[in-house]
Amino acid sequence: MDAHPSPQNTAAGAQYPTSFKDLLAAFEQQFSDRLFPETPATLYDAIDYTLSNGGKRIRPVLCLMGNALIGPLQLDSFLAANAVELYHNFTLVHDDIMDRAPLRRGKPTIHVRYNTNTAILAGDTLLLYAFEYLNCMQGRYKQKVTAVFTEAALGVCEGQQMDLDLENMPLEAVSYPDYLKMITLKTSVLVAASLQMGGIIGGACSEDQEHLYAFGKHVGIAFQVQDDYLDCFGDPGKFGKQLGGDIITNKKTFLLLKAYEFASPVQRACLNELLSSNSPDKVPRMLQLYQDCKVDEWALREKERFTQTALQHLEDMTVVTANKQPLFELADLLLNRGY
Ligand code: IPE
Ligand code: IPE
Ligand code: MG
Ligand code: MG
Ligand code: MG
Repeated sequence: MDAHPSPQNTAAGAQYPTSFKDLLAAFEQQFSDRLFPETPATLYDAIDYTLSNGGKRIRPVLCLMGNALIGPLQLDSFLAANAVELYHNFTLVHDDIMDRAPLRRGKPTIHVRYNTNTAILAGDTLLLYAFEYLNCMQGRYKQKVTAVFTEAALGVCEGQQMDLDLENMPLEAVSYPDYLKMITLKTSVLVAASLQMGGIIGGACSEDQEHLYAFGKHVGIAFQVQDDYLDCFGDPGKFGKQLGGDIITNKKTFLLLKAYEFASPVQRACLNELLSSNSPDKVPRMLQLYQDCKVDEWALREKERFTQTALQHLEDMTVVTANKQPLFELADLLLNRGY
């Protein structure tokens, strides 16, 4: 390949930043240096379109934060962070095909802007580049970091398949634990692995690695609960995705499952009728039902429950308390973003 996964422009070294903001800047500085081949332009332009369209960069920065929590930032953490972000973008490109999503980060999705075949190949290419970055790591932990990443990456595929399987199942056949298992796999294992990968590179002991993973896992669950809530009740100007997309595709989100659980017999009949409807008022009617059943209030409490469990794992780490501060702040920022 023509690309050279060897970031020159990193903040690795003795004087290293630890806040999300500074590590984000350090990540972006070297991530924008990446080079993809010129041809075929139809493929690499589509990849460039996706990668240059921003994103919050949560996972790669968490990888850097996992390292910075333990010790000086290593160049290998930037390679791992790049791998995680490329992989994440791969999942989004394919996810948007599967979810029939027209918008991502406020712009047309890649399969809409280009076409589905190009989107599939762009996703595949991003996935392969992710492994290429991991393969460039120098430390003797390389195999372990790659194994943690691969296990999470496989989990995401399993979770995505579960998400699709649940779409087609009747409401009464899907339980809240099914939903939690699905979001744990599709979303939270990658967040957890990103932190653990950084922790491993930084030299964390196995107990701290487990706490880092568990912190990330619970943050990830709370994050997906919030994402599902925002898909219904987010600010259209900030969310960047089609509002009500989960309702249109009959996703078995907790909103739907809990609405069904809390509903009266009449409301249950209405929920089932809406699931088989394609009418333009499906979204507003479902949103009204969610509000009537008070699932929006329940969501906020559930998000808080997972956040508290996450924070406890951070508390329990054997690291100097002051070093944990950036992760406490990040959890707060991430889970109270409102978009
Ligand atoms: C989107 O993740 C997919 C979910 C797990 C909800 P992000 O909200 O982190 O996506 P970007 O990269 O910031 O756009
Ligand atoms: C996505 O869940 C999880 C992955 C991409 C692996 P969603 O389908 O809810 O993510 P968005 O809302 O499209 O970002
Ligand atoms: Mg989606
Ligand atoms: Mg999806
Ligand atoms: Mg979503």
